[in-house]
Amino acid sequence: MPAANADVHALELAETAEAAFREVFGAEPEGLWAAPGRVNLIGEHTDYNDGFVMPFALPFYAVAAVSKAETWEFHSTYGAGSTVRSATLEGVDGWAAYLAGTAWALNESGYPVGPVRVAVHSDVPHGAGLSSSAALECAILIALADLYGHEIDRAEAARIAQKAENEYVGAPTGVLDQSASLLCEAGHVMFMDCRDLSREQEPFDLAAAGLTMLVIDTQAPHRHADGEYGARRADCEEAARQLGVSHLRDAPRHAKLDDERLNKRMRHILTENERVLKTAALLKEGRVAEIGDLLTASHTSLRYDYEVSSVELDSAVDAALGAGALGARMTGGGFGGSAIALVEAASAQKIEAAVTDAAAQADLPTPRIFTARAAAGAHRVR
Ligand code: GLA
Repeated sequence: MPAANADVHALELAETAEAAFREVFGAEPEGLWAAPGRVNLIGEHTDYNDGFVMPFALPFYAVAAVSKAETWEFHSTYGAGSTVRSATLEGVDGWAAYLAGTAWALNESGYPVGPVRVAVHSDVPHGAGLSSSAALECAILIALADLYGHEIDRAEAARIAQKAENEYVGAPTGVLDQSASLLCEAGHVMFMDCRDLSREQEPFDLAAAGLTMLVIDTQAPHRHADGEYGARRADCEEAARQLGVSHLRDAPRHAKLDDERLNKRMRHILTENERVLKTAALLKEGRVAEIGDLLTASHTSLRYDYEVSSVELDSAVDAALGAGALGARMTGGGFGGSAIALVEAASAQKIEAAVTDAAAQADLPTPRIFTARAAAGAHRVR
């Protein structure tokens, strides 16, 4: 019997993970756990500034089939499939680092876990800015917690998965992706304050409002993403330091610094936090069609003030807006990856075509476009 909150699609993926587990390890797994990717509706690069975010989970999942074992054995179905075996959690790299790193972070955080065999299968698009790595971390995290008998609050679990990403994998990201994967609920978008991870789930029924949200994976590789991401963080920390606040979230609304670049970074963070609050207020009143301008303003701010957009993202956003989208913006870290567009359901096809045409005209990769649904967060499938 699947758990009550299990997603049907997660169940299908779980069967593939289970079959891989049987084939590679010649045994049945003790259980199956799924964790989704996400899009962020609004609130970009605010997480590491103690600000506000608004993600929802997508019905793409990383699924882990897991059993306790004598040594660490990680199998992934990705590509032709590969298996990594290790006597310890030291020095595991590549895709398996997300799994080993999460086990390491659990141990470091006072939740001892021993070795497991795991087969992972995922359909979260890789490199599309939809949190495929957080999905892996969160799936193994809830699996290990269950198998080793730890009850971990989901917000704390998000911090533990973030620790894996920051300290083991070495990517200096905030807590957005792991929180989204662990804490989002089906049919809802989650408003979260990254200062204390307090949150509210807002119903997000686009169909009832005659609307659709398109996710446009530009298929453009993330360029310079790591270095540039770290540089933006460093700019924010320097701006906060000059203002004498712990995080830019606390900067006075009209604060001014001598350095124009730091001013632009700060302006993005301050205005973006305001846009998230306005978006949350509109959603609370059921005025979802009215959030479009806020989404578009967020993109403009990310493009010109935060400077994390790309030719492909701008092309997708401009084409969607030109063809009548109510609002559009890049989502996630930027420098490639995906954009979202809020559209009237009746004009979705026309807008998809306009986005695809614009990419072709500009000689950019053909984007992969799909309709978003707010899916269930991480859960045990069986
Ligand atoms: C990436 C990071 C997140 C967040 C976003 C930008 O997805 O992993 O922590 O900073 O970029 O909002």
